[in-house]
Amino acid sequence: MSRRRTAAAGAVVVALVALLATAYPRPAVAVTDAATSVTCTAEQQAITDAQQDRVWSIAATRLVALSGPLTLPFGATGSSTYVRTSAYAWTAGFYPASLWLMYEHTSDPAWLRLAEEYTQRVLPVASWHGTHDLGFMVGLPAGLGERIDPSPVRMNAYATALRTAARSLSTRWNGRVHALRSSYYGASWGVIIDSAMNAPMLIEVGQREGGVDGQRLVRRGAQHMLTLANSFVRADGSTRHRLAFNPRTGAVAGPIYGQGLSTSSTWSRGQAWAINGFAQAFGLTGDARLLDAARRTADYWISHVPAGCIPAWDLDVTDDDAPRDSSAAAITADGLLALSRVETDAARSASYRAYALTTLGTLASAPWTIDEGRGVLQRQSYNVPADPREGTYSWGDAYLLHALAAAAALTS
Ligand code: GLY
Repeated sequence: MSRRRTAAAGAVVVALVALLATAYPRPAVAVTDAATSVTCTAEQQAITDAQQDRVWSIAATRLVALSGPLTLPFGATGSSTYVRTSAYAWTAGFYPASLWLMYEHTSDPAWLRLAEEYTQRVLPVASWHGTHDLGFMVGLPAGLGERIDPSPVRMNAYATALRTAARSLSTRWNGRVHALRSSYYGASWGVIIDSAMNAPMLIEVGQREGGVDGQRLVRRGAQHMLTLANSFVRADGSTRHRLAFNPRTGAVAGPIYGQGLSTSSTWSRGQAWAINGFAQAFGLTGDARLLDAARRTADYWISHVPAGCIPAWDLDVTDDDAPRDSSAAAITADGLLALSRVETDAARSASYRAYALTTLGTLASAPWTIDEGRGVLQRQSYNVPADPREGTYSWGDAYLLHALAAAAALTS
């Protein structure tokens, strides 16, 4: 049943992409060198059905163990206590998202009940103007709920929350920077590469609504993504993490140090957010500039991640003993599957798909997924400069399951 649903959803996506291709004619994109130096795929195997079943089974045990009253799972660094948060943490949407994916995979009503309950906890956040992370916090779980929940009443509630969240995020728009403000970093008006995962919600909601308001949301979401493509993606396809802008002139004021090695390095999870966000945004808009950004960031990943498919926490860190970030690999695998679905060049599409499936084959093996432990995905890194211990976190779990569902949809 879950596969039929997934296939039906896939057909809707294909139809939507076809429709959008008419609405947004694609300028010709020069196909540059296809993804090269695929060291990861040379060493590893694509995920098997047995491995997929094993990860879903590990997830079933771990996600039930992480349920609990009122709060939402965040994660744990090293062997420290597993941290839980209120609905107002940037991570609040990941656990409900995992629950929706479990329900879609199993059709077991117990997962539906959990998914509904935890999604209800995050919906009030939709009207909060105090964060840019509403795509993660509301967009992801409410979007999955809207697609997967069989109740029309609850689907309507999720659609309402998505509209509210898009409008809340839109209040952060600055027409000179052509971007949504992520945060003030000190006194600096700043944007972070992670925002690539939040802006697509504006495009999606706006396209659905249409009219003057809807078109404004689409414009803001798409222009934010173009600002990321223009200002954050370097000539070689690597990405910056945070930039300050002058909110009066729109000019880049300079880099802001974040969670990476330095302002000139490439933070692995930032690169992963970029690949995934650009792939989503191109799928929604058909804008060739966003396809170009998705390809360039993806190709940089493929040619810089070492054999074994899992990067260190920063792509400029080459020490084999440095902390890994398996969450970045899961987010990238999910993004490459999204890119392979909308990529206009067949050879590139096949290459991205193969790379993603091989990364998932690795993530579905020890030490990345193991039979004991707390979260689903092990050896993730959150903020290495602040705490170099690896851990297990809700975002890595959610994107691993999201990618597994996308991989299953390829063969259903
Ligand atoms: N700030 C979001 C992240 O750590 O990926």
